[in-house]
Amino acid sequence: MRKIQVLLVLGAQWGDEGKGKIVDSLSKYFDYAVRFQGGPNAGHTVVFDGKKIVLHTIPSGILRENCCAVMSNGVLIDIDVLEKEFKSLKDLGVDFKGRLFISNLCHIILPFHKKLDALLDTNQKIGTTKMGIGPAVEFKVARHGIRIKDIFSQEIKTLLKENIEYAQKLIKSFNYTDYENDINFEELYSKLMKFAEKIHDFVTDTQKLLRKKIEEGKKILLEGAQGILLDIDFGTYPFVTSTNTSPGGSICGTGINPKSIDAILGVVKAYTTRVGGGPFPSEIKDENEAQTLRELGGEYGSTTGRPRRVGWLDIPLLKYSKNIAYFDFLALTKTDVLEKLGKSFYVEKYLYRDVEIYEPDTTVDISQVVPVLCEVKRNSEIKNIIEGELGLKVVINSFGPDRSKIEIDENFLSLIQ
Ligand code: IMP
Repeated sequence: MRKIQVLLVLGAQWGDEGKGKIVDSLSKYFDYAVRFQGGPNAGHTVVFDGKKIVLHTIPSGILRENCCAVMSNGVLIDIDVLEKEFKSLKDLGVDFKGRLFISNLCHIILPFHKKLDALLDTNQKIGTTKMGIGPAVEFKVARHGIRIKDIFSQEIKTLLKENIEYAQKLIKSFNYTDYENDINFEELYSKLMKFAEKIHDFVTDTQKLLRKKIEEGKKILLEGAQGILLDIDFGTYPFVTSTNTSPGGSICGTGINPKSIDAILGVVKAYTTRVGGGPFPSEIKDENEAQTLRELGGEYGSTTGRPRRVGWLDIPLLKYSKNIAYFDFLALTKTDVLEKLGKSFYVEKYLYRDVEIYEPDTTVDISQVVPVLCEVKRNSEIKNIIEGELGLKVVINSFGPDRSKIEIDENFLSLIQ
């Protein structure tokens, strides 16, 4: 295989596979780390100089001096969240001037998007993170959105007024009246103007930047948020996020040449988790058993703190993800958690309308499948099972939260170095 200049890292399950740690380790070898979809619904805790920092939208590559961080056009920006991240980085003494680039085309999440998210989810029961992702994407697609470049333009006042009117109509449709008066134009406008001042030096045309850097031979790490099964098109719709977590998202969300991606690395957790509602064939139904695994794995949301639903490794779903995402390599995480647990299982196949399914496609309703479980005799076998079943090599093994608890295959290292 040729050398890897542009590497795309994607979650292979429902998010929370431990991508953060993988990306953190890999960013040592890359010049640019890029977030390209999602927004503050993602969360990544990094231990830096013995201190914890949670980053939701800025790529964690910013913590390595060799690496620049890019938030490209597909990222949704919540101004409060970004300001907090700026402050956390400053408190840690991280100098990011000249190393952080924010696309002028990113859409902004405003407080009413979060309100709408909460109101919508009361009916839909998707169990969103309430960070305003869905409504902000709705505004974007309805061509009502406010982009970073708009807050520097003459039209911002008119645009913000129109936005507020539109939001008020929507909020009213939920028979929710109080909030209508809470959207204060002057307050929001002055907040946006202060924010514009703070981010001015970081805003640029990131499509052009990345295009040039790729031409110059710089190494680019594209960092997906969430996981393939939460993709708006190919995930377990409607229990999905509102952006494309599959490879296409990295193209639309950056504007780079589709042909420039050299390899796709899928990150697989040794068991499965999901947050919020939706089908989950391998879910552990016994609450005591589930709680043991949850505690051992620290399976609580890093954005919301919600307990994650837990289940066994699901091979048919991983095959589905592989088919959607075209993985070239895999990274395996949290094998240490299963070691501590002792006995574990994996789903080998499903029974669906009396037919055995090994590799589901979109015609299979995964809320109706019966999982067939196999016991994992020794947890060290998990890697072999995944490699054998998916026909892909596990090139990174992460077996603990510490930065040192990771092994990267030498051949793979020689491709990225
Ligand atoms: P939203 O992205 O906040 O709209 O939430 C939609 C669905 O995606 C919900 O089930 C969330 O729990 C899930 N989700 C969103 N972001 C993440 C993540 O970073 N990890 C895991 N699940 C997520």
